[in-house]
Amino acid sequence: MKPRAPEHIAAITPYPPGKPLEELEREYGISGSIKLASNENPLGPSPKALQAIQTAMCSLNRYPDGSGFYLRKKLSAKQGIPFDGILLGNGSNEIIELVIRAFLTSGDEVVMPAPSFLLYRLVVQWMGGKPVPVPLRDLDIDLEKMAEAVTGRTKVVFLTNPNNPTGAVIGREGFESFLAAVPAETIVVLDEAYIEFSRDPDSPSGFDLVGRESPAVIVLRTFSKAYGLAGLRIGYGVMDPSIAAFLNRVRQPFNTGSLAQAAALAALDDDEFLHKTQQTVWQGLDYLYAEMERMGLKYHRSQANFFLIEMPCEARLVFEAMLHRGVIIRSMASYGMDRYIRINAGLPEENERFVKTLEKVLSEL
Ligand SMILES: Cc1ncc(COP(=O)(O)O)c(C=O)c1O
Repeated sequence: MKPRAPEHIAAITPYPPGKPLEELEREYGISGSIKLASNENPLGPSPKALQAIQTAMCSLNRYPDGSGFYLRKKLSAKQGIPFDGILLGNGSNEIIELVIRAFLTSGDEVVMPAPSFLLYRLVVQWMGGKPVPVPLRDLDIDLEKMAEAVTGRTKVVFLTNPNNPTGAVIGREGFESFLAAVPAETIVVLDEAYIEFSRDPDSPSGFDLVGRESPAVIVLRTFSKAYGLAGLRIGYGVMDPSIAAFLNRVRQPFNTGSLAQAAALAALDDDEFLHKTQQTVWQGLDYLYAEMERMGLKYHRSQANFFLIEMPCEARLVFEAMLHRGVIIRSMASYGMDRYIRINAGLPEENERFVKTLEKVLSEL
């Protein structure tokens, strides 16, 4: 008889893996395709990070520094955050998992916006916990409803600022009221994977909130987006040192590699690259918004590097037709938003190609 996983594992719908670009091109008989589907940095990696990787490669026979000493030191100095409260992860994904692994027991509840980043739900299910999704209101996170959803069984609340897939931010005042409303023993995870792209001055900065007594706030940041290092898998969490101590108990000793640590360290010094990335994204989004208006399409303004566009037909059909023409976008059908597509801002020529292709596709559908 074949081994059978426990019921809470068997019941999980796995995260849908994308195919490698080369495979897609082969399957669809296309070449020179562009990808605007995964909120990646269109400029490539930070050049300073690439240089640092070259140097660090010579020490690949050694295990990495398991504590990430130098990167945490630099983060602490640069961001003004406590060294002992910084935890590195194999992408900020891993910090999400560590929080849940350290604090959840079977049957505990975790409140999260819906739709939001798919991994929150998945990780809670791994631990036999109960995800409690709170629907968005007009595509914004509904902080009042989220606070109402917190019960005595809630261990953790996820908030995404800006949210994925909407790009909406939460306001400072609403967030303060939310924190005042939730019980002191709840952990609030503020996922700031896209915060470097926000142009909204009214958005709270998670780092200012980490020191507060209760509820405890854990801030997540990543090098995958603004620093262009998604393939290396490195991110971090910032929290009270007493919480970091619990997460460290369930962390693999060498969870982040030496190349990732070296690249992230150098990328933090690459202000020029960060600035260029922000300009590229902001100019790209402004161009795309104007084009969507010209085409009469409804779209949702975003503070991230991606945005949602409402289609006049099923998004799935647009996704397929665009793919055949070598433009890879995201259909939001798997998020329960059947008529929405999500794209990230690309290079100027990629944005133009997206617009031209979308116009053609919509005229033919
Ligand atoms: C909201 C959000 N949080 C976290 C992540 C994970 O990023 P990382 O690459 O650091 O694991 C993503 C990735 O797409 C995301 O959209």
